[in-house]
Amino acid sequence: MPRMTAFRVVQISDTHLSRHRPWFVPNFQAMVRIVSVLQPDLVVNTGDISFDGSDVEDDLAFARTCHAGLDVPLRAIPGNHDVGDNPWQPDVAQPITEPRLFRYRRHFGEDHWLLETGPWVLIGLNVQLFGSGLAAEAEQWAFLVSAASRAGGRPIALFVHKPLFHEHPDEADVNHRYVPPDHRRRLMDLLCASVRVVASGHVHQHRLRRICDVDHCWAPSTAFVLPDHRQSRLGTKHVGYIDYAFGEDRVEIRVVEPPELTNHDLDDFPDAYKH
Ligand SMILES: [Fe+2]
Ligand SMILES: [Fe+2]
Repeated sequence: MPRMTAFRVVQISDTHLSRHRPWFVPNFQAMVRIVSVLQPDLVVNTGDISFDGSDVEDDLAFARTCHAGLDVPLRAIPGNHDVGDNPWQPDVAQPITEPRLFRYRRHFGEDHWLLETGPWVLIGLNVQLFGSGLAAEAEQWAFLVSAASRAGGRPIALFVHKPLFHEHPDEADVNHRYVPPDHRRRLMDLLCASVRVVASGHVHQHRLRRICDVDHCWAPSTAFVLPDHRQSRLGTKHVGYIDYAFGEDRVEIRVVEPPELTNHDLDDFPDAYKH
């Protein structure tokens, strides 16, 4: 049997692009050049594509223009800064709403998707919908049910903005960093046996752990890291991207911190995301 050629995916995340707050655009442009050399089969942006697309439509429009520079296929899922956040607590500042969701879709297309490649099924989800009560949330659950049956036991790589949990799938605490536990359970009940990889963003830190036989890979941001006094250190704080080589049943996962990307610290941009 000829050896299977690996399907290669470059995951970028948390690109935080904006025309009027362009601090992180040069790093994205450097990524475009890196991708052009690597020529992966696919680039996936796992959200927070824009700086503040939840409130500023031009940030989404500009981010879309930036992605037009990629010369390989692209899939994207939104982050909380693109469509608003899931209501993990009652007073979330920018909750996901239909206008925000539809605006994102106008610029980036579907917020959840399925892609079949060789033996693998790649699924992208909009986890900000969880708990929103929007019609789109029910539609996405229906999509997941049909995706599970279409996968039919084939290995699944799941792309989500927020990691599913901190240490273990049975965690019950609710916070902004992870998928809410009730929805995580429902998601894992639907897909669990087939999921081999969960690729996430959002934390702006890299961590790779195999838990219950699933590789959970947190992608770094291409844009910036948060200083320790604003965010505890859970993994590696350095900008970069993830390189996946999909084999028959497993994936080789490599984090890359390219010297072409400046390792910005959010503290160096006092006008960004004031706390
Ligand atoms: Fe982010
Ligand atoms: Fe985020």
